[in-house]
Amino acid sequence: MVRSMSRSKIALIGAKGQLGSDIVQYFSELSDRYELIALTRADIDITNAEQVRQVLTSQRFDVVVNSAAYIMVDDCEQEFENAFKVNAIGALNVARATSEANPDALSVYIGTDYVFKGDQASPYTESDQPYPISIYGTSKLTGEYLVQQTVKRSLILRISSVFGKAGASGKGGNFVETIIKKAKAGEPLKVVNDITMSPTYTYDVASLLDALLQSDVTGVIHGANAGSCSWHEFAVKALAFAGIDHPIAAIPADAFPTKARRPMNSALISDRLSHFTDFQMRPWQSALENYLIEKAYI
Ligand SMILES: NC(=O)c1ccc[n+]([C@@H]2O[C@H](COP(=O)([O-])OP(=O)(O)OC[C@H]3O[C@@H](n4cnc5c(N)ncnc54)[C@H](OP(=O)(O)O)[C@@H]3O)[C@@H](O)[C@H]2O)c1
Repeated sequence: MVRSMSRSKIALIGAKGQLGSDIVQYFSELSDRYELIALTRADIDITNAEQVRQVLTSQRFDVVVNSAAYIMVDDCEQEFENAFKVNAIGALNVARATSEANPDALSVYIGTDYVFKGDQASPYTESDQPYPISIYGTSKLTGEYLVQQTVKRSLILRISSVFGKAGASGKGGNFVETIIKKAKAGEPLKVVNDITMSPTYTYDVASLLDALLQSDVTGVIHGANAGSCSWHEFAVKALAFAGIDHPIAAIPADAFPTKARRPMNSALISDRLSHFTDFQMRPWQSALENYLIEKAYI
């Protein structure tokens, strides 16, 4: 169902992040539909409840999108207090202030595929039971629950393995950039081939968000690009599209131990999206090709 459109006022938290910056760019072309207030960490620290309350109650927002998170999956295992402070308590602070300012506002929380255990053979749908196996995944699932039980209207938009033009702030780029950089430098490349996921372009998530906001959808939505692959397949495709001839060795995940456990399969698919919008996420291959064109690799 498409809502009757009046201009929505949106607060975007995490506006300088990989996803946040693409939301800013995409929504800047939709000023007839939205007034977007882009909030960076300098404007709002979601762990500071009083500051969050002040910022979010200073204007009447129709939608608050929280794209801020502590995303360093391995570091979260040691820094578990910080993981919960940002990903769970921070989400609660945002949800409380959102509903205090406007009880009818929609609270959007960006979720992750890492809420799943990864032992399922097929892609995860919204009705599959979460069972996180890392502190990061647990803190993000807690964030989902806290948002859902705090506000009247929430949208949990779960995405996975993202690549975007800005690169993840804490990771100094993204997987695609790292692979291309190392291949161009002639460095040997080894990438795991037994972990399956759905690579997702942040610009596509921004366009999905627009479609979702035009519908009345609430609850959990899986918003990955269509299809799935291993990290190795993803890396091989990126180099092939970019016209870089460089070998990539395929290795099993247990040859590359990490502090945090990762789901062996975290591919996402939506069985809810088509009930609310005609918008469909394109296959990850087209999204990757488009990203590489925009970054002038092709
Ligand atoms: N990256 C992935 O592969 C992936 C996969 C699935 C889901 N997600 C989810 O997608 C969302 C966006 O991720 P991303 O890749 O865009 O991450 P990102 O580039 O690290 O962006 C996160 C933003 O949040 C900000 N932030 C961190 N702590 C904050 C705080 N206490 N208060 C206010 N802002 C804070 C960061 O600011 P600073 O730059 O100042 O730290 C950064 O701008 C997150 O919810 C993440 O959990 C990401």
